[in-house]
Amino acid sequence: MKRLQRLRQNVHIRDLTSQIGFTVNHLIQPLFAVEGIKHDGEIEGLKGTKRLSITSTLKQIESDLNNGVTQFILFGVPAIKMGETDYFYNHDFTTKVISEIREKFGRALHLWVDTCLCSVTSHGHCCVFHQNGQIHSEKTLDLLSQSALKFTQAGADGISPSDMMDGRVKAIRETLDAGNYLMTPIMSYSTKFASQLYGPFRNAASSAPQFGDRTQYQIDVRNRQDAISSSIRCAEEGADLLMVKPAMPSLDLIQPIAEKTNLPVGAYQVSGEYAGLVALEKAGLIDFNKGLLETWYVLKRGGAQFIITYGARYAKSLGVGLK
Ligand code: PBG
Ligand code: ZN
Repeated sequence: MKRLQRLRQNVHIRDLTSQIGFTVNHLIQPLFAVEGIKHDGEIEGLKGTKRLSITSTLKQIESDLNNGVTQFILFGVPAIKMGETDYFYNHDFTTKVISEIREKFGRALHLWVDTCLCSVTSHGHCCVFHQNGQIHSEKTLDLLSQSALKFTQAGADGISPSDMMDGRVKAIRETLDAGNYLMTPIMSYSTKFASQLYGPFRNAASSAPQFGDRTQYQIDVRNRQDAISSSIRCAEEGADLLMVKPAMPSLDLIQPIAEKTNLPVGAYQVSGEYAGLVALEKAGLIDFNKGLLETWYVLKRGGAQFIITYGARYAKSLGVGLK
């Protein structure tokens, strides 16, 4: 286990997980790159975030870098979905986005790549199923591991599995190690609740489930014990960084998870949390900028070492320090 080396070797990760102060380096900006779109599309409720073509993704990153953002998490949304039974995942689009980002910006940024199946399965679930409707664990873990490897080969700096399947961190770690990517970190969505607050995201990533919901694999909000053990499981499987999601509704869990695992724990301020602030602003009820900053302060106070937020690109203008 080379975890400590992975966490120390990269200046971006050292800044991201620093427990001193609060700077834009503690924030990760999500990006949605969508295959086959002619015009960048606004995402309902997510002010400032769009579904972007590859060219626009590069432009967006350039502007974000100018605003001090150094950390990104990429969601690749391919045009073609996987067949119901052939389980064929075409990675070409997402790997192309990754390699173009790498080529253009070199090491100026740290690029996490969200690794899941829901934006490529025709049914929108984060896994594939057997004919009888049971989760096909083996095939799911294989598809996720192969994705992680391909994304890393294309130039991803870190892999971020968001599927919540048992064993995925272990499977991905083994595959990366076997490919000699010993230093590629895994930032796991380790405590992820089944939440209504992912609504706007599912439009952005074309990933709404076509039947049922995600309660088979995401955590029931009533279950604190499951929430904590889910992160411990990821730590045992070899995750380098952990995360709670949604962010503010998981505030009570950040510290216990950090204490039990001794790993960096971040929070994902999800689409619905962000869109809630946008909606309040639209109704003339709050000052959006002050509200956004307030939520980040609350998450830092609660012990989040880093925050994934759609508002990272506004941090500088909100006065969040650069160093
Ligand atoms: C996909 C994924 C989701 C989010 C991140 N990765 C949605 C889901 O699980 O339904 C949610 C992010 C957000 O709402 O901002 N596994
Ligand atoms: Zn998913």
